[in-house]
Amino acid sequence: MSESWSGLRAVVVGAQGTVGGAITRALRESGARVATMVRKPYVDPVPGLEVIVSPLADPLQVREACRQAAQGPVDALFIASGAYAGGKVIDATPPDVFEHLLWTNARLPFYLLQGLLGPLRERKGRAVLIGALAAEEPRSGQAAYAMAKSALHSMVRSAARELQGSGAAINALMPSVIDTPANRLAMPQADPALWVSPARLAELALSLAAPSATGLQGALIPVRGGL
Ligand SMILES: NC(=O)c1ccc[n+]([C@@H]2O[C@H](COP(=O)([O-])OP(=O)(O)OC[C@H]3O[C@@H](n4cnc5c(N)ncnc54)[C@H](OP(=O)(O)O)[C@@H]3O)[C@@H](O)[C@H]2O)c1
Repeated sequence: MSESWSGLRAVVVGAQGTVGGAITRALRESGARVATMVRKPYVDPVPGLEVIVSPLADPLQVREACRQAAQGPVDALFIASGAYAGGKVIDATPPDVFEHLLWTNARLPFYLLQGLLGPLRERKGRAVLIGALAAEEPRSGQAAYAMAKSALHSMVRSAARELQGSGAAINALMPSVIDTPANRLAMPQADPALWVSPARLAELALSLAAPSATGLQGALIPVRGGL
């Protein structure tokens, strides 16, 4: 059971994904006000949820979505958006795939921080980003993804130095493989019990962003599940 988030407001990016959805649910169950930044409206509106819809496809769109998100206090920011495309060696990776991975996993999070670190500082809030263990332990066919997530990890370390002494903090979780519908479909022979549960990852993300999580700054935390 996580601590109460009553009276706090969190922004979740990638909230319609598996992990972002789990983070959003956990926050709401803990009493937080939640604003989600999503690319398309919810099919079934969620009562009480603030929803910012934006394609998030270029820096100006991201800046505008951040402006909307900062209409209220930002006590916590969760960046759970991301994209994966693996299995192709460097010489077989199409430029559009490479650019998409760089945008989604590195450049978009940079512009999100650019738009929301100020409001986060004002509240002495905490940002939690979802990186990937694959960037620290890359395999063949993962160069583009690993490169993009490495950039995200470096950005977290650097942003942590910028936040030092401000009362605000930024940290990242680096999961191995998450138990998602997409992974179950892609790896039918694997044992999902060895993977990271989205609910557990959400619990960890909330514990890093909770008001009581003092003293942690610039941490990149591996989350391996049973692998
Ligand atoms: N799945 C894994 O095994 C695994 C392992 C290690 C790390 N991770 C990382 O964990 C995070 C969450 O993964 P997940 O499995 O929950 O992924 P997911 O279910 O595919 O969700 C990804 C979310 O990111 C959003 N998104 C994708 N491209 C975007 C873009 N260009 N602009 C804005 N939003 C975009 C998606 O929006 P739409 O809903 O609009 O498509 C979706 O909400 C990601 O950062 C991922 O890289 C995942």
